[in-house]
Order: sequence, then structure tokens, then C-alpha cells
Amino acid sequence: MNATRLQLLKQLHEKKNQFVSGERLSEQLHVSRTAIWKHIEELKKQGYVIEAIRKQGYRLLDEPEGLSEPSLLLLLQTDWLGQQLYVYNQVASTQALAHELATDSASHGTVIVANEQTGGRGRLGRVWHSASGTGIWMSFIVHIDLPLMKVPQLTLLSSVAVLRALRSVSGCSLEIKWPNDVLCNGRKVAGILTELSAEADRTNYVVLGIGINVNQSQDEFPEEIHHIATSLASETGQQVDRNSCIAAILKEWEDLYLLYLEHGFKPIKTLWETHALSLGKQIVARTPQGKLEGLAKGITDDGVLLLEDNRGQIHYIYSADIAL
Ligand code: BTN
Repeated sequence: MNATRLQLLKQLHEKKNQFVSGERLSEQLHVSRTAIWKHIEELKKQGYVIEAIRKQGYRLLDEPEGLSEPSLLLLLQTDWLGQQLYVYNQVASTQALAHELATDSASHGTVIVANEQTGGRGRLGRVWHSASGTGIWMSFIVHIDLPLMKVPQLTLLSSVAVLRALRSVSGCSLEIKWPNDVLCNGRKVAGILTELSAEADRTNYVVLGIGINVNQSQDEFPEEIHHIATSLASETGQQVDRNSCIAAILKEWEDLYLLYLEHGFKPIKTLWETHALSLGKQIVARTPQGKLEGLAKGITDDGVLLLEDNRGQIHYIYSADIAL
């Protein structure tokens, strides 16, 4: 979005329902009053209801509902994550788009959000249902040079960021099921897909894909996931603002990433453990190599799950579906 238009919107948003004089706006934003008027006309086209009265100025009366670039930019409190932002109505997959943009030299922290995905993808080659207007389907690009075995650390970091943000915006009490499913009352609200581009054994960039069920009613979920999925709205009985969730996730992610860069994985691991649902419990892990049952003992410093079977043998679980 044009920087002046965003500043103008910020001014009107801060003084919502009050008049702000055109003269003052033109002084503050260092543009002519005609330019202010043109920006106002553009904002109106984007769904902002702005009243203009001679001698009084402009006042913002209403803002468009739903996901939008301006609404998100108004809420964004990050230094770099999401400062380059793409908001689409419909894409095949934000994840696929993020890879395209990353190879086309998109900057660190570029965020792609879509209102609907027609080919959303989940972990382990599954489909991710991404219906229009109900959820958050978002991917972002992180330029980091990391040994491949440490990449799961970023996934765990992301699940903590998502949990903290969604808890603060919706009030839902949430838990994490290893590695990165965010659950509410035992049902999945959010999932994270981490993909990367690498050379030798180090990353060029990582794409973090986050899918969140926000405002679906229970009967909107496809039959096959009906019993395992839920949404924030289903749990709270209230619609939840997707723009606020995204802004909160990006802020939490940026803060946790700074902590990670400065102090390593240890503090992230501690945070993850405080929210982990499966630790200390009997679990069944369906791994690509077969089914394992036992006690979830903890995670390693690289984010690998430790499972102790009934003979006391410890297994390292790198990739699996966990059932409690
Ligand atoms: C999971 O299986 O739990 C991970 C789901 C990740 C879904 C998100 S939605 C945004 C991004 N784009 C995709 O195609 N997938 C991820």
C-alpha cells in the first residue's frame, strides 16, 4: 500500500468518528490537499466509509470487514515480519507462492495471506481444507542459514507463537500436540507446515505455512475431519477477527525469533514444554517406519520427540502423527 495512504488511514483510524481537517492532514503528511482528497477516494473504493464535510474535514465512520492489506497494516506492530505483505483473495497455496517469491528474491519476512486456498497442503502430503473467508491461510519467508537438523526448532517456535497469539486474541485455552498442532479441547485449531530450500546441509530459506480454523462452524468442516477439527469461533461462540490474529502471530513470531537468535533454542524449548499436551503421557506415534507406542519423555535440543517403549527403550521420533 502507498505509504502516504497508509499514514492517512492511520490518522483517520486513530480519530475514528471524529473529524480531522484536510489542512492538518496535508501538513502532517507533506502532500497537497488535492492529494489527500485523491487518497480518500481510493480508500472509499476499498470499502472505508469516510465522510467529507467542508470546513470540518474528513471522518472515518466504518472500516471494511474481513481480511485486507490496509486493515492488517494498521494493526501490524513488527519491525520486519510482514512489512512486505501480499494479501490475495484466492490462491492455490500460499506455501507454493512463497517458494516462487523466495526464488524470485523476495525479502526476509515477506508474508503471503489468502482468503481462500484451492490447493492448500498439510503435513505428510495431506490436503489442508482452506475454505473462503473462514480461516487464516498464511506463509512467510525467513532467510536463515541453519543446519538442516535444526529446522524443526523453527516449527516448534512457530507453534508457541501461534498459541500465544491466538490465546491472547480469542481467549481460548490452547495446547500443542507434538510437533506443532495447536489444539483446543483436544481438537485441532491450527497446523504448521515448514518447508525449506537448502544447499548441502544448510538452509537458503525456510517457508513457514500456518493454517488456522478461525470462524468455521462445526458443520462447515468436511466429514472426514469433523471429529478432530474445531475453530476459534466454535470454541468461544464468537467470531474472531482474522486481521488481529495475524498481526498478533507476526508480533509473537518476531519476538520469539529474536529470543532464539540471541539465546538459542533453550528458552523456546522451555516455552514449548509448558504448552505441550503429550509430554509425560502414553502416546501412539504413527511414523513413516511404522507404529510405536510408549511414554512421551520429552524433546531433544533439536526438537525431536523422545518416546520410551514398554521395554524401556528410547526411540527418536522425527516425523509422525501422534495420538494420545
Ligand atoms: C498441518 O498439516 O497441520 C499443516 C497445515 C498447514 C496449512 C497451511 S495454510 C497456509 C499454508 N499454505 C498451504 O498450502 N499450507 C499451509
